[in-house]
Amino acid sequence: MIVTIDGPAGAGKSSISRRLADALGFAFLDTGAMYRAVALLGLRAEVDWENANQLVELARSAIIDLSGQVVLLNGEDVSEEIRTQRVTAVTRFAANNVGVREQLVQQQRTFADALDIVTEGRDQGTLVFPHAECKIYLTASPEERARRRVNDLAARGETVEFQKILQQQTARDQEDMQRDVGPLLKADDAIEVLTDGMSEEDVLQTLIKIVRRCQNA
Ligand code: DC
Repeated sequence: MIVTIDGPAGAGKSSISRRLADALGFAFLDTGAMYRAVALLGLRAEVDWENANQLVELARSAIIDLSGQVVLLNGEDVSEEIRTQRVTAVTRFAANNVGVREQLVQQQRTFADALDIVTEGRDQGTLVFPHAECKIYLTASPEERARRRVNDLAARGETVEFQKILQQQTARDQEDMQRDVGPLLKADDAIEVLTDGMSEEDVLQTLIKIVRRCQNA
């Protein structure tokens, strides 16, 4: 069974999706981590961001292992580094690159082969797994999402201003929704969950119920 969870940045998808996968005994695929990992490679190789091919080559040769609790990039644990502001700021170059997307979509489908998975991203229910049995669109208001991002970063030792995060998030939302390939879009058959005012536990229980309903459908 494939459960897709799409939605905008800061909707709490990553932690909830991982917990949902654990609760169901499914594998978990964090596709945002893949785009972030390619961006990190670009930073390290000091690519020319305007030269699309350089990043495609890096994506092609990269071994991104998401099968465990950490993100391994060519064998190195980059779980923390890919979530820094420095990497977040350039991830759009990977996400907007058609060739990189082709590479990563292929890897995502391969990962899902013969596994029950919860997969999280922007285009999972629309483009990558249009035949998924259970599709969820997880979202929250912009202010609530920005508040959560500020708290997340603070927990990791990065102090950032709320207004700055809100601005960056608005820019990322637009970029995500206006991308030519794999834009953020709610699939027609996705169930929307608005998480404002809900605790992580509430959201998790809601999603478990949705998946159970899909399983019985
Ligand atoms: O979910 P996230 O913040 O870790 O995603 C990082 C970036 O990657 C975000 O700007 C959108 C992009 N992304 C994407 O284009 N397609 C996906 N399936 C997942 C993420």
